[in-house]
Amino acid sequence: MGIEQQEFVDLEVPSPTSPLWSEFDAVRFAGHGANGDDRSVKILNLVDICQKETINLLSFKERRVFETLSPRGKRFMCVQVTTLPKRLKIQHDQWVYTTASGEADKPEVAFGFMADMLLSSACVYGKAIHAHNIKEVVAGRYFSKSRTHPTVRSFCRSSDFHLVYSNWLSQELTKLFAPFKEIIGLYHLGTSIEQRLIFLGENYTTKTLISLLSSGTKQISDETLRQFNNGQITRLQYETPIFSFNSISYKARTHDGVEIFVKETPFAKEEKHGAELAARFLPRMMNPRIAAKGELVYPFFQGTTKSDIRLSYIRSGYKDQDLTQRLLHVEMVQAEDTLRAYRQSLSLTGNSIDRAGAQPKYNIQRFFHDRLINDSRMRQYYGKGMNLPGASRSIPFDQLLKLRWRINGQRYTTLQNAFDYARSVVAPESSSIQRCPIAFGIGDLHGGNIMVSDVFNRKGGLSEVLFIDFEVSGFHPIMLDLAKPLYVDTMFESLFRKFLGDGFSNGTRCRLVGGEVVVDLAHRVDTLTQSIFRIKTQCLIKPLRAEVQRLGGNLDDHVPILAVALFLCATVSRNFSDDPMDFAEKFALGMIFLRARNWDGIEACFRELGFSE
Ligand SMILES: Nc1ncnc2c1ncn2[C@@H]1O[C@H](COP(=O)(O)OP(=O)(O)O)[C@@H](O)[C@H]1O
Ligand SMILES: [Mg+2]
Repeated sequence: MGIEQQEFVDLEVPSPTSPLWSEFDAVRFAGHGANGDDRSVKILNLVDICQKETINLLSFKERRVFETLSPRGKRFMCVQVTTLPKRLKIQHDQWVYTTASGEADKPEVAFGFMADMLLSSACVYGKAIHAHNIKEVVAGRYFSKSRTHPTVRSFCRSSDFHLVYSNWLSQELTKLFAPFKEIIGLYHLGTSIEQRLIFLGENYTTKTLISLLSSGTKQISDETLRQFNNGQITRLQYETPIFSFNSISYKARTHDGVEIFVKETPFAKEEKHGAELAARFLPRMMNPRIAAKGELVYPFFQGTTKSDIRLSYIRSGYKDQDLTQRLLHVEMVQAEDTLRAYRQSLSLTGNSIDRAGAQPKYNIQRFFHDRLINDSRMRQYYGKGMNLPGASRSIPFDQLLKLRWRINGQRYTTLQNAFDYARSVVAPESSSIQRCPIAFGIGDLHGGNIMVSDVFNRKGGLSEVLFIDFEVSGFHPIMLDLAKPLYVDTMFESLFRKFLGDGFSNGTRCRLVGGEVVVDLAHRVDTLTQSIFRIKTQCLIKPLRAEVQRLGGNLDDHVPILAVALFLCATVSRNFSDDPMDFAEKFALGMIFLRARNWDGIEACFRELGFSE
């Protein structure tokens, strides 16, 4: 097939006796032709592929985000990937992708990458019956979802098509779709504002639970550590990271040229311990070594944090396609890795966690309950009182806690009541925390703790993702672990507005009226944020709920912990004392979340904040 140089020659396709055999329907080989051009071949199992909705493609390259066309414009298609040992991957593609069921009357439809390729290709060896059957099946599926038929421009590569080829394809489509009589109209590409950014594949779960080995986890060598301890290093120029809030760090090079990342933190021991645990559950991480004077030394990773990329994306006017693609890629990887770690650790119940040498200590409570003891965090930030618009003077701390709130026209309780309730729900000895399923998680997985390699291979869709910062990693009540990434990633712009500078203020209003804090939120949700929220709900939370159910529990019962944790992420993780509007906005967001008692409630909160679905 013209592949002269195959990539990944060492990798073996599992044999029919392997338990993996039934998990894939097709295999992709890639490499280069004689002229160095990119070539790939996909081999399909034709026996029952037509009956399936999902096509599982065994691949050596991983790609999760594909550009595609829908009737209403350009979209990204996000495909789930299962990571297997020996660098094998399975991409879970679908024949056709549609938008959410909520829009059943007017769904947007697009071909999956495999369908796109098959439908737009010619049968080289005559009208091979199998190939033709597959084309008919794909056409049927497309029609049944959209009630219309596609045009040449429904194919994502159509702008590259030669006129001759376009004409041929157009005739092919007419023939293929001829049996479908009730055609209502052709799809036309509109130029309307994009309401959606992504198509999301079905959540797919491989039957075989793949355990990952920690042996591949990178760390610095003995020799590098020795040179560091002997001071045989040169500090390198390094821009201070803006999403680092707890430590001092620098970049250095040892005398024999190894680049390292040095982190000084009072929690070095916790971080080392957390990283050791993480290595059992996460494939994309590095293990630090502790130097003689207590610093943590990591290999240096040439990359950018997810949060930095997000800032660039917002600054680009929410338009940059490469940044969008990278952010979607990381979000998919994050959902996949988090879910796998949860699944693998959830089944380790009490005893086996002890045996694994990892007693749950709930160190994650540093962010939650610990900050509520004696109102310590609130006192630290607002102990001297707080200015609010409409008030003639600064409001003393005790009084601040006793004010009632009215948010978007609805009455809410006082902060005092809110914090009392929060304290009772997240206290380590509370029955809610005691009953909550325990799983391994990084705990502090905001975008500043995920890095993405600077080299982004657009064709391969691959950018290396790395999880960092294991200071609070461990076995956590799963709802506490979920909270931070959910809050920070969905509220990113509002949270980091200060880093964005002028021009990014929103229209939230706040006034103290008759002893009540009145807040009218003007929360905006851009399409990427909306997509990130969908990935989290569809690729992480939904399958997690199913997993907990399979184990005999119900995640719904524990939602009050998540609600409280989101409230605490909004209120006590940052200091808003210098900006009354920021204070009002964040506390109002928190109060809204605090009310949720089940998943419907959480979803209602997000809807109130402008999210859909
Ligand atoms: N191994 C590494 N190589 C290069 N940069 C790193 C590495 N680890 C962390 N960083 C950068 O340093 C920042 C702070 O590191 P992190 O471990 O998150 O510390 P903190 O506890 O201060 O948040 C990160 O946001 C990232 O920008
Ligand atoms: Mg960090």
